[in-house]
Amino acid sequence: MTMQKTFSIIKPDATRRNLTGKINATIEAAGLRIIAQKRVQLTQAQAEGFYAVHKERAFFNDLVSFMISGPVVVQVLEGNDAVAKYREVMGATNPENADAGTIRKEFAESIEANSVHGSDSLENAAIEIAYFFAQTEIVG
Ligand code: CMP
Repeated sequence: MTMQKTFSIIKPDATRRNLTGKINATIEAAGLRIIAQKRVQLTQAQAEGFYAVHKERAFFNDLVSFMISGPVVVQVLEGNDAVAKYREVMGATNPENADAGTIRKEFAESIEANSVHGSDSLENAAIEIAYFFAQTEIVG
């Protein structure tokens, strides 16, 4: 077990339905610590940059439109094996395939409006954290 940081987004479908607190409770109950957090309205350029790896995908434009359709909450989570742990807590990308008790099973509306994002690797976690947070905003 190694102490890690991962990056999380509570997406517009969840902020719209006032689910930030419930999602944070699930995160904390799983043993992850929220060591940075802010609510922001993404610009189109920010959303396109964040999801640049998906720019050739058919769903890219819809994904960007969705991510700027309302405020999001960006977060840094810390804990033992935080990257894998948070992916477990989130559940499968498509809520239809997500296990019971996961955030996406409990709260997601669809594969696009799937309530949360979490980094898929330690390397991407560092990149994604740096995309949104200054070191001085992360208080472990
Ligand atoms: P996320 O973890 O934020 O990373 C990319 C996002 O694209 C993903 O979650 C989904 O919400 C979204 N998405 C929309 N359509 C698809 C799709 N067909 N396959 C995978 N991801 C999709």
